[in-house]
Amino acid sequence: MALYGVLGDIHGNREALQAALARLDECGVERIVCVGDLVGYNADPDECVRLLRQRDVACIAGNHDLIGTGRLGFERCSNKAMHSLKRTRRALSEETAAHLQALPAHLVPEDRFLLTHGGVRDVQQYMTQPKHVLENVAYLRRDFPGVRVCFFGHTHEQKVFEVKDGSVGERDVTQPVSLDGDGEYFINPGSVDASRKRATKLAECAVFDSARLEVRFLQVDYDAAATEEKAAANGYRLDAWRDRLYDIQRRLMPARSYTRL
Ligand SMILES: [Fe+2]
Ligand SMILES: [Fe+2]
Repeated sequence: MALYGVLGDIHGNREALQAALARLDECGVERIVCVGDLVGYNADPDECVRLLRQRDVACIAGNHDLIGTGRLGFERCSNKAMHSLKRTRRALSEETAAHLQALPAHLVPEDRFLLTHGGVRDVQQYMTQPKHVLENVAYLRRDFPGVRVCFFGHTHEQKVFEVKDGSVGERDVTQPVSLDGDGEYFINPGSVDASRKRATKLAECAVFDSARLEVRFLQVDYDAAATEEKAAANGYRLDAWRDRLYDIQRRLMPARSYTRL
């Protein structure tokens, strides 16, 4: 049992990652885990992966890590994501790419809680609705019997879904949440990278006490303007004409061919 920092959806955002790690250090976490999407969208994929490896963060693969290293294609991602991932593919060092390709799809720390990126069986599924949670709780019981706490990412929103007596409820993430009941829990620590958020640009993460079975959510200020400037200067942002070009390509060409453009 330990006090864990939980990260996810870092997306090559060095400034946000450094701010989140500093806050987790202040909270006294003993170990750090990450629910995937280390790269994509922003200009520091190598630096983020290096930092995570230095800090011995236990990571799983997100869809951006798989697409960014050619393990998955662009079929199920938006034009913005596709554009930044094409850039990421060119930017990644061989060492980083090999590391990302070797990340597992799941981890089960302490044989007690699961880390998954999207759905339990689908790395690109957005778990946003109760029906998705009910589908995934069935997979959790079948694939990871005895595990009733699951951390996930991909939706970029801090969230606790509780499954009890066959129905799904949401818990208030502005307060510490006890996972001590007899339900099953799907928890999103939020997105470290805030570049895609409109209202507030804060790095999100969580602290999980596996002994007390309690999770609390953090939101940390970082230099979002610096991240944005670097991403734009290095070609990670999609302009309007290329957006239209991608739309046309998606309509006219088989998916496999536009992945090389
Ligand atoms: Fe993501
Ligand atoms: Fe994702």
